[in-house]
Amino acid sequence: MQYKELGQSKIEASVIGLGTWAIGGWMWGGTEKEDSLEAVRASVDQGVNLIDTAPIYGFGLSEEWIGEAIKGIRDKVVLATKCGLIWDRAEGVFHFSSDEYSVNPRASRYQVYKHLAAFSIRTEVERSLRRLQTDYIDLYQTHWQDESTPVEETMSELLKLKQEGKIRAIGVSNATVEQIRQYQDVGPVDSDQELYNMLDRRHDQENLPYCQENNIAFLAYSPLARGLLSGKLTPERQFNAGDGRSMQERFSEENRREAQKMLSALMPLAEKHDITLAQLAAAWTFHQPGCTHVLCGARNSAQAEANAGAGRVRLTPEDLQEIEQTLADFHHLV
Ligand SMILES: NC(=O)c1ccc[n+]([C@@H]2O[C@H](COP(=O)([O-])OP(=O)(O)OC[C@H]3O[C@@H](n4cnc5c(N)ncnc54)[C@H](OP(=O)(O)O)[C@@H]3O)[C@@H](O)[C@H]2O)c1
Repeated sequence: MQYKELGQSKIEASVIGLGTWAIGGWMWGGTEKEDSLEAVRASVDQGVNLIDTAPIYGFGLSEEWIGEAIKGIRDKVVLATKCGLIWDRAEGVFHFSSDEYSVNPRASRYQVYKHLAAFSIRTEVERSLRRLQTDYIDLYQTHWQDESTPVEETMSELLKLKQEGKIRAIGVSNATVEQIRQYQDVGPVDSDQELYNMLDRRHDQENLPYCQENNIAFLAYSPLARGLLSGKLTPERQFNAGDGRSMQERFSEENRREAQKMLSALMPLAEKHDITLAQLAAAWTFHQPGCTHVLCGARNSAQAEANAGAGRVRLTPEDLQEIEQTLADFHHLV
């Protein structure tokens, strides 16, 4: 496993991180507790120290289970969580209703707001610390940007939390370059977490070059395009009730059929390296200029171990060129 510093924080985090959105169950058609805990422990055993979660993942459930899974091994983990999506008050900017994507399995319907006011962040950090059973968070990220609160107010509060030792580094997510600059006017930003994979390339021109120039870690989320790039989402695959993927065009039978064709074209390269398609997709992601860390979601220890294995893969410039050509041939994929 390779490790890279999160911006200028002096925190060394594994290039492959564990993403724990699916572990929360909501939008993913449910979750299994033992499998989830084993996914966390297997990741750590394989050298993955970066674990990314958020309060919204299962409305607290993902954080709670991670807290349980890392009991006794807290010092081996770079714990990353987030703030800014709330569901207990109607304040800030309305973001979505939980039943738009499927009903929260834990409770009833929630109205989710983007809110990054100072007092709200303070409430959220205390709740996360409690759920995670720890007294510090290594990387604290603003999950989605709240246009109703001045960035100066948000960042000043995050800097206070850092001074108090409750958080060690500050990151943003789903932010434009302009928004990142506004944060930087107040204090140092160590990371930016954005959607990035073989099919979602917007940040090639946007946040990736900016992060690279400004020594900000770039954490790619959904690197497997939520499983599509693993090859196992064949057109026949039936999604569980409540799995939000079933409602998206990306996972239509037609798109899955086309994706299988693209993956067949990439298979010889995976075979050359003796790796799976999921490992090829994860490895490709961290080989892109400016991309420092890749957050792979895993629901069980087998997926977690396989994803960790991608951290050892070295792709050559010729491999990368070949992949680029294949991606260009399938640019019509959603
Ligand atoms: N900041 C944000 O707004 C944001 C948004 C999205 C995600 N994230 C973060 O990024 C993480 C990763 O993204 P993601 O969970 O959306 O998607 P992802 O990593 O692209 O895909 C995860 C899914 O791929 C499948 N999978 C994983 N490993 C596999 C393997 N080795 N072989 C075969 N299939 C495999 C599993 O699907 P099955 O469930 O079908 O088994 C898993 O649930 C999240 O968990 C979260 O921490 C952040």
